[in-house]
Amino acid sequence: MTQDRKQQRIGIFDSGVGGLTVLRELYKQLPRESILYFGDTARLPYGTKTPDEILQFVREILSWMVEQKVKMAIMACNTSSALALEAVRSEFDLPILGLILPGARAAVRVGRRIGVIATPATAASNAYGRAILEVDPTANVQQVGCPEFVPLIEANRLEDPYTKEVARQYLQPLLQQQIDTLIYGCTHYPHLEPVLRTILPPEVNLVDPAAHVVAAAARELDLLGLLNARSPLPTRFCVSGCAEQFARSSVQWLGFTPEVEKVYLPTSSPLPVPLESLE
Ligand code: DGL
Repeated sequence: MTQDRKQQRIGIFDSGVGGLTVLRELYKQLPRESILYFGDTARLPYGTKTPDEILQFVREILSWMVEQKVKMAIMACNTSSALALEAVRSEFDLPILGLILPGARAAVRVGRRIGVIATPATAASNAYGRAILEVDPTANVQQVGCPEFVPLIEANRLEDPYTKEVARQYLQPLLQQQIDTLIYGCTHYPHLEPVLRTILPPEVNLVDPAAHVVAAAARELDLLGLLNARSPLPTRFCVSGCAEQFARSSVQWLGFTPEVEKVYLPTSSPLPVPLESLE
């Protein structure tokens, strides 16, 4: 294995700022790795798109990431993991990791009455239900689609009383079922933890699949001999929508203002080309 390959970036992607919860874990667990972050902000939210649309988006993003020479891709997006992971794994010559199985395994380790809050597409796919029951057929799983959460988080309305009211409604059926464990089935939702904690009984375990997919990535890189031993490059942040807006909305999660590039994914034309070079 050449030193070059080890030093290549890990590519991670989401529709928007949700993937920053996975990036945070990467910084914590794999501080020597260099990262390429992509937010598909021009097409956000993913959670209300059709399975075919989501698969198409994921193919475009992974094709671009391969062009950028990443050594591994992590879907920092449950909707993509639920709807597209299986299909694209056989299409790309690259280790690709998703959140569902690591999240399901972690939940089964701590609970038996498991609630999942997720985007409508992830909830409808029943991906968490299948994964949890595969690991523990005696577990009880309740999934709730939460269409309003991603737009509220992207609009930074975390402290808005309306957000708390919406959260209360989404959690109601799960509380009625007396869940002992709640999975964040969307990477945006850990940003809501302060709100959710005020509604959930304190004994409910919160499972963030981000921590577990990153642990799985660390194991796989180690197995493949691809862990970077040198100093990491600064994270490269790219979006399909407005770069300035992403920089503004991500600063509160990152603790610094990132430099963000707008890129064009390869659909029919051989892009990406940074917007600035077109002007
Ligand atoms: N954060 C993503 C997820 O984990 C996508 C949310 C969305 O764009 O609807 O599902």
